[in-house]
Amino acid sequence: MRMDIDFQGRHVFVFGGTTGINFGIAQAFARCGARVSVASRKRENVDAALAVLAAQGAQTHGVCADVRDFDAVGAAFEDAAQRFGPIDALVSGAAGNFLCPANAMSANGFRTVVDIDLVGSFNVLRQAYAHLRRPGASLINITAPQATVAMRSQAHAAAAKAGIDQLTRVLALEWGADGIRVNAISPGPIDGTEGFRRLIARTEEELALAREAVPLRRFGTPDDIANLALFLASPYASYISGAVIPCDGGGAIDSVKPALERASAQQA
Ligand code: HXC
Ligand code: NAP
Repeated sequence: MRMDIDFQGRHVFVFGGTTGINFGIAQAFARCGARVSVASRKRENVDAALAVLAAQGAQTHGVCADVRDFDAVGAAFEDAAQRFGPIDALVSGAAGNFLCPANAMSANGFRTVVDIDLVGSFNVLRQAYAHLRRPGASLINITAPQATVAMRSQAHAAAAKAGIDQLTRVLALEWGADGIRVNAISPGPIDGTEGFRRLIARTEEELALAREAVPLRRFGTPDDIANLALFLASPYASYISGAVIPCDGGGAIDSVKPALERASAQQA
């Protein structure tokens, strides 16, 4: 069988899709012919993303919205659906993070990350529901390895991403009858991204330690994650729902990560 992934004329919405991994996903869908909507908080990020996508010849639409604002998220989907019609694929990837030991973290610091990552994901999926193509829509949450493997200085993000994993499964259960699939991607360390700079490594020594912690001995790229997103949104994944899929060079299968532990301890 020849695999041919084509999103010509399909509407793909990437929330938090203006930078990093999520922007890589938006670009990949655009390359496959999709009409791509992106949203995030900062006007400069939205404008920059739209300029790149338009230069690639994509039909694009951009909105400024904070995932913590339920009404603003709803308005963003309303706007995009009016422009490009029902949503065929939705990627929910907005996130915030910083390294901080739990005993130094303020209540507001914990709440802020949970609000963006977990409550924000609920807001995005809940508000998208009315605008999804059904049957057929594919929803993809972006989670992280710390959802299942404890990581120091990550109490807020680990709790939030674990919540995203379960939200993925519950919505797959509830919305399956509508013909809506809900899955999540758990990226490993993706080179050149904000998350990588903040959490994984900055110095040469940290880079070497972090690379050693990946069974495949290389960092991921945004395209590695985008390829999985394209697959999950395509008909080739039409029987996959409720799955949380690592895309991490094998990192998730290694229960002992001394090198990564040392790297994150140096960062904290
Ligand atoms: C301790 C911190 C802190 C830090 C912020 N806070 N940064 N505490 N150490 N480095 C605290 C603040 O003091 C404040 O608490 C509270 O958090 C809210 O901070 P604000 O700056 O007011 O929040 P806000 O403007 O909403 O910004 C949210 C943010 C910011 C998360 C703090 O960094 C952001 O917008 N990040 C988006 C980009 C990002 O993080 N990308 C990486 C995603 S990577 P007090 O008590 O003082 O009021 C990722 C996972 C990667 O998600 C996984 C790799 C394995
Ligand atoms: P990033 O570039 O900082 O991406 C985060 C995106 O979310 C940005 O476009 C940001 O744009 C947007 N955003 C942040 N807060 C928002 C809010 N409150 N409302 C709306 N949009 C918001 O980081 P990244 O490293 O590429 O991470 C992307 C995703 O991959 C995240 O879900 C992260 O947890 C996950 N992940 C990353 C790695 C990694 O190695 N990088 C590993 C595992 C998982 P604005 O600032 O304009 O809002």
